[in-house]
Amino acid sequence: MAGFVQAPGAQPLLGHFLPLLRDPLRFMDSLRGQGDLVAIRVGPLRFAVVCDPVLAHEVLTDLRTFDRTGPVYDRTRRAMGSGVATATYADHRRQRLIMQPAFHARHLAGYAEVMRHQTGTLVGGWQDGEVVDMVEEMFRLTTSIALRALFSTRLDPADAEKLRSAFEVFLRGSYTQLALPSLGRLPLPANRRYQAALRQWRTQVRDLIARHRGAAGDQHDLMARLLDARGDDGEGLTDEELCDQVAVLLIAGAETTSAALTWAMYLLCTHPEVLDAVSAESGRVLGGAVAGWAHLPDLELTARVIKEALRLYPPSWLLPRTATREARLGAHVVPSGTMVLVSQYLLHRDPDVFADPNRFDPGRWLAPGRSAAESAPPATRPRSSSKSHHAYVPFGGGPTKCLGEQFATAEAVLALASVLARWTPQLLDSRAARKPDCRLVMLPRHLPVRLAARAR
Ligand code: HEM
Repeated sequence: MAGFVQAPGAQPLLGHFLPLLRDPLRFMDSLRGQGDLVAIRVGPLRFAVVCDPVLAHEVLTDLRTFDRTGPVYDRTRRAMGSGVATATYADHRRQRLIMQPAFHARHLAGYAEVMRHQTGTLVGGWQDGEVVDMVEEMFRLTTSIALRALFSTRLDPADAEKLRSAFEVFLRGSYTQLALPSLGRLPLPANRRYQAALRQWRTQVRDLIARHRGAAGDQHDLMARLLDARGDDGEGLTDEELCDQVAVLLIAGAETTSAALTWAMYLLCTHPEVLDAVSAESGRVLGGAVAGWAHLPDLELTARVIKEALRLYPPSWLLPRTATREARLGAHVVPSGTMVLVSQYLLHRDPDVFADPNRFDPGRWLAPGRSAAESAPPATRPRSSSKSHHAYVPFGGGPTKCLGEQFATAEAVLALASVLARWTPQLLDSRAARKPDCRLVMLPRHLPVRLAARAR
């Protein structure tokens, strides 16, 4: 990678492996300001990290040149199945065309009804003074919403819980398969649990797909829409492809949205003045009810809190691509085969775009001319430039931009407002949040919170 700036601190053989392993976010921070394209080395592998938003945009919008190939995606597909979110250029358009209609805006109000129902069950089940782990609670919520949105009434509560817990074991195990495939093949109890969960998961999903096929026409859930969808060759998805799409949708949608909610909760607990203002908004708008589609336009501050949480702690924090042919990026020539990394975490804290970038300030997302109810007028609105247009990318960009962006945003806003309308969270331990796990999704390992019931 001649010509790129080399990141300092590489050790013989290991390269930047240790700092990346110890504290990947700090490592990403250290690359900012070194150049617009910075070369790093992890053992024998070399990567180019894109530090400039305009170049990141060029990478994300050209899937043909910067494809989802290479060892990371090969392993992801092996561990988690191949659906639209991991498809390569050769197959992506077909899959995207088939999946897209199920996410059309006109279906959102229906999905919001599922969100309202599942969120109501969660917030109605807590006890005053109870200590919960928000990471677990939010993951339980978003997986159950995703499963219900997919399979609606064909899923009785016991089956839904079996499916949800199989998915949880499957997801955790997939991370081992992804990171350490040879460890994943050993006859260890954890691997046996993973294989059993995977078998149970696929059998149950296949059975649900068959039931949907048998009852065509009377369902209005995501699965029914996927069964109806056709590519431009007139062909739909086979049952095996549908099974993979279900897993990939849950992986793409459930842990990311639960991470967004968990980070929003963490930021609110550590910024009491904003927590008070958001709680006041949810109290005023919901009056103790669970939020539904019609409430969304009035939850303006809650939406800005989610937007700012996605900036500071983007659940998808690193998007890898591989150059499939020689390409030009800015002043650089990128040889074919170069692995390129776009880090949303790095871009979202660019001080040239976001003033005081490490500060949690939902006021930076106020519409022009409006002032913030929760704090003094901010001087932190993103600066307008070609850089700033491409610097905020929690949902990616280009042809692979998140299909579930509106779904996830509605879900996060409705769930956060519903929790805060009834409960006041108090953070008990912030250590795990200060050193998050950075796997496919960036997330604290735990977030213990005490819940106090709000007077209605
Ligand atoms: C806050 C929550 C979410 C975040 C931060 C997020 C982020 C992302 C990002 C960055 C990508 C682009 C990946 C790439 O370019 O390689 C993506 C793709 C995708 N997301 Fe999301 N996502 C979220 C929620 C959801 C939800 C709820 C769903 C579905 C219900 C979903 C479905 C998808 C799908 C299907 C893709 C693949 C799109 C494609 O490759 O054409 N996501 N998401």
